Amino acid sequence: MLEGPNGQGKTNFLEACYLACTLRPLRAQRLAELVNFGADAARVTAQFEMRGGDRAVEIEIAQGRRVARLDGKPLRDPDELFRELAVVAFTPDDLSLVRAGPDLRRRLLDRAVQNRHPAQLSDARDYLRALKSRNELLRQGAPDALREAFDGPLAQVGARIRLRREEILRELSPFAERAFSQVARGEATLALSYQVAGGDLQPIVGESESALSARLAQGLSARLSRDRLRGFTSVGPHADDLSISLGEKPARAFASQGQARAIVLAFKIGEIENLRAQQGRAPLLLLDDVSSELDPERNAFLMRSLAALAGQVLLTTTDADHLVGALRDARGEAGDVRLYQVRAGRIQAG
Ligand SMILES: Nc1ncnc2c1ncn2[C@@H]1O[C@H](COP(=O)(O)OP(=O)(O)OP(=O)(O)O)[C@@H](O)[C@H]1O
Ligand SMILES: [Mg+2]
Repeated sequence: MLEGPNGQGKTNFLEACYLACTLRPLRAQRLAELVNFGADAARVTAQFEMRGGDRAVEIEIAQGRRVARLDGKPLRDPDELFRELAVVAFTPDDLSLVRAGPDLRRRLLDRAVQNRHPAQLSDARDYLRALKSRNELLRQGAPDALREAFDGPLAQVGARIRLRREEILRELSPFAERAFSQVARGEATLALSYQVAGGDLQPIVGESESALSARLAQGLSARLSRDRLRGFTSVGPHADDLSISLGEKPARAFASQGQARAIVLAFKIGEIENLRAQQGRAPLLLLDDVSSELDPERNAFLMRSLAALAGQVLLTTTDADHLVGALRDARGEAGDVRLYQVRAGRIQAG
């Protein structure tokens, strides 16, 4: 548990942990934001105790690019690292995602996918690169042959990305829906589903990657004339959404603030329980000051769920007494809680 007043570096520390575990930033939009103001580069080093022994991870960010090393050697295949590592982060920003735009919900899904399928990271990068080029060509009114060079890769990688998202939703939904019914007793039931942009591209149970890829390619050409006018690609996983409903109603429009929080809490707990069920161990959990954003009852639920998981949890707070109390209530005693103080970017035990 990391305690410190506002602006001392608690979230920055979790940011570093998240980067070491996923190679992605936690709250920053771009890697460059992780570099100290006025500095050329940022470096994070981390030591992981893994089943196959200890591993040392080193990540350097310079000029917006990232170089990762595992045990001193350049990390070529991120799978080497991620196979052994799952991390779930929960931040106050997450609490707004139910009612926000679809990009935050896609990110929620993709982060959940990355824990199960590390290749999602490089696929997402390839996909975005192809998408940007295709959109650029659409805007320029470039010749068909140029644009078509990107349609194939977009449809192929897009199908992979989308099938993994659908799969993770199928896996974690039962856990999340059960957690929701426990947090929000007596309220409407939670339902999560994958929402596709484009009526002809709806999910088909058991569809293969190549079949979906062919449908996506068809979808791209069917919309070509309209997309040319608008200057962007209107179908594909970048345009899809996670649909969340309470009872029959879309949560995005109708969930109260409290219900929206309960939904996010349930999703995260569902994700953690699913990882434990699939991988036989709990993921590393990063909780950034979430307790202060939840009401006492939901906070108690969160603490009880965490206590039951028995994984490693790093949490930040401005008020450790309050949190230790909630943890003690959940565990019966404070257990092995270690407290660290964060002041002006330095971390000290105590
Ligand atoms: N790239 C950067 N270079 C230097 N300082 C930065 C950078 N990004 C953020 N900071 C600063 O680091 C400080 C610590 O930020 P951080 O978000 O970690 O605080 P915190 O302890 O989590 O505070 P809070 O309790 O308010 O969430 C802030 O003053 C912030 O402005
Ligand atoms: Mg913070």
